[in-house]
Amino acid sequence: MYKLNLNSENIKRLDHFKNSDYFLLTNSQSKSSYWKEHSKLLKSEVTKDQMVVSGDSGFYIPPEKQPILGFFSKITKILKSPTKLLQRVKTRYFTLPKLFQYKTAFDLVLNHAVVTDPDLSPYRINHLLWKKDRDLFLSSDSVKSDFESWSKRKISEHIYLHYYYFNILKSYLKGKKVKTVLEIGAGNGNLTSILFKNFPGISLILVDLPEMIPVSFSYLSSVFPDAKIILPNEITRNNPKDFDILLLTTDQIKLIQDSSVDLVINCHSFQEMPNAQITNYFKLIERVIKKGGHFFTANRIEKIPVSDIAFTTEQNDLPNRFHLYPWNKKAKVLVNEVSRFSRLVQLDGIGIRLEITKP
Ligand SMILES: C[S@@+](CC[C@H](N)C(=O)[O-])C[C@H]1O[C@@H](n2cnc3c(N)ncnc32)[C@H](O)[C@@H]1O
Repeated sequence: MYKLNLNSENIKRLDHFKNSDYFLLTNSQSKSSYWKEHSKLLKSEVTKDQMVVSGDSGFYIPPEKQPILGFFSKITKILKSPTKLLQRVKTRYFTLPKLFQYKTAFDLVLNHAVVTDPDLSPYRINHLLWKKDRDLFLSSDSVKSDFESWSKRKISEHIYLHYYYFNILKSYLKGKKVKTVLEIGAGNGNLTSILFKNFPGISLILVDLPEMIPVSFSYLSSVFPDAKIILPNEITRNNPKDFDILLLTTDQIKLIQDSSVDLVINCHSFQEMPNAQITNYFKLIERVIKKGGHFFTANRIEKIPVSDIAFTTEQNDLPNRFHLYPWNKKAKVLVNEVSRFSRLVQLDGIGIRLEITKP
């Protein structure tokens, strides 16, 4: 369970959103079986000064900086359920093959270490070229100090991963004008927040399931209290232009203007969508991206986006496969590799692709 502090104005705005048709009338066609189940588990309760978020998937909110309280809450958790702790230790150290911590993986990849399979290829990121780039974050220590300085939160595993994605974007988009970014399936907005902080003057459009929007709104407005963040029910004719972060539900993608976006991003989210929905988003990208605009995606090589019943019951849904996405054949592909960062931290391969969609 996560608690995000909000001012009374934002509490009121969220309340309006949660009582609007944009939240209540959700289009279940856009959800895979996985998300039909997990969106029901995703709860966002508005109290008088907080948003209380609970759920099982889709958001990775970094914890608040409370070293002493954090220590005691860990001890309390251990004392409350020692068997759970034993189970976790058993899984981590005796059942799973040894994987690296995200922090270590970040440094290994950035240092071109042999364990990261550093073979060079025109389709792979050349981390050697990053070494002298002062615009990039070249060590896990620099990531930690940057993130903790502006977010006032404690660094978490997923933040290292998103700084790695940030480095990719910053290095390949050097010298390009990046004004408008569309992120599809942004979760609580970890990558969004890093981009917003490190690409001064950008505007971000986030498209997500209605159930996730209170989470991203609360997280982003707690980290950036002065940012102009617009909720789906607050859209007027003017504000598709006048915003820092615009939150749209999956039903509102028609509001995004043709050829208006410099960069489209989808991380770890197509992998959990039905194939028809992925095709719709590829059509959206083709419509809204500017000539010369970039598309960046990182998703599982293969995932069956269904619920836990798939462990015991054969599923009819087609597996979701990265190489079978309806890629634009005219795109100029800049990166197309199995993520060397993810290979160190998890068992499932992640495909990374960066392209100029309309060269
Ligand atoms: C695993 S989370 C990834 C979140 C974030 N991109 C990250 O990497 O931390 C998957 C995200 O996809 C969103 N999602 C699922 N189905 C979607 C759909 N049809 N359209 C847009 N977003 C969707 C979920 O709500 C969630 O935010």
